[in-house]
Amino acid sequence: MPTDAPAPARTSDLVRAARREPVSRTPVWFMRQAGRSLPEYRAIREGIPMLESCMRPELVTEITLQPVRRHGVDAAIFYSDIVVPLKAIGVDLDIVAGVGPVVAQPIREERDLDRLVPLTPEHVPYITEAVRMLVAELGGTPLIGFAGAPFTLASYLVEGGPSKNHEKTKALMHGNPALWDALCARLAQISGAFLRVQAEAGASAVQLFDSWVGALQRADYSRFVQRHSAAALAAVDDLDVPKIHFGVGTGELLRLMGEAGADVVGVDYRVSLTDAIARLGQGYAVQGNLDPALLFAPWEVIEAAVRGIVEEGRQAPGHIFNLGHGVLPNVDPDVLTRVTELVHEVSAR
Ligand code: CP3
Repeated sequence: MPTDAPAPARTSDLVRAARREPVSRTPVWFMRQAGRSLPEYRAIREGIPMLESCMRPELVTEITLQPVRRHGVDAAIFYSDIVVPLKAIGVDLDIVAGVGPVVAQPIREERDLDRLVPLTPEHVPYITEAVRMLVAELGGTPLIGFAGAPFTLASYLVEGGPSKNHEKTKALMHGNPALWDALCARLAQISGAFLRVQAEAGASAVQLFDSWVGALQRADYSRFVQRHSAAALAAVDDLDVPKIHFGVGTGELLRLMGEAGADVVGVDYRVSLTDAIARLGQGYAVQGNLDPALLFAPWEVIEAAVRGIVEEGRQAPGHIFNLGHGVLPNVDPDVLTRVTELVHEVSAR
């Protein structure tokens, strides 16, 4: 079934790079391009809690468009959060500024799973509405929809909040694999349905964020995680949208993350694109991977790094320029604009 994305967005450089087709220049966008690095974001969010902002379509539309206007990037990333679908099905959680998602009653045993009911489009009418509004405003610029992957969502739900070591999550995974599987199966449905809502409303591509899965060894990823992420991605298989799969510290997992059903594998800044491409082979496009902290270095340093990454990206059958993780809140946004222009200039065919 075709999506509602307008034809120009579906033939944009971003979508073409993701599909390993020729592009006019390397497309670029930045994870967390919408957010605290922009004064216009801080102004519009003033006094509005994060989760509430995600449920107001006009606000979502404006915040999503802000970095597109300012930087001239090749894609918009939908302004929302990975915990929005959990909140929508009734999980008691909040996003605490400077901390992240905090869950009131963490998942610990079988009966806790009852709270994770299947997500339907009726749970998130404001998402459908916001995506439709955005797609109409964006014209030829593609919108990327996203969801959190089962492991990363499970970590927040089991730990009760952000975690450095994921100790409760790993204890559950290894100590009660049946409960772990049941939990991740429910989360895969929720993630997949959230991606599907966005793609059906007109998003041109989707990204599955498994931000914290780099905490696992390859064997554990294969045994406990891969099939659940694959199920989430498979939810949009019939919708003709390319799929990006990203995690932090996932150098050892790149191949397995590709095999979960991605068209594009996101690479963080700890692995060079050259090494990542060697590990992945020619079957995938890559996305990445400028170290977000390098944006604080002198321009000459940034320029050399950007040129190097664009050059390395040519070894892959498709390359989308991005950071190796999200924009840091106190970066100078003008640097992001300059990086965008430089990528376009040095990659023009
Ligand atoms: O441009 C964009 O990427 C905006 C859309 C977006 C947000 N969250 C908005 C947001 C996306 C794609 C996310 C995904 C997300 N949320 C991830 C995966 C991406 C990653 O960084 O690895 C994760 C792990 C979360 C959970 C989460 N939500 C964290 C860790 C935080 C930061 C807490 C803090 O204040 O430092 C949030 C809150 C959040 N999500 C903010 C934004 C703009 C900041 C909150 C604010 O501005 O008040």
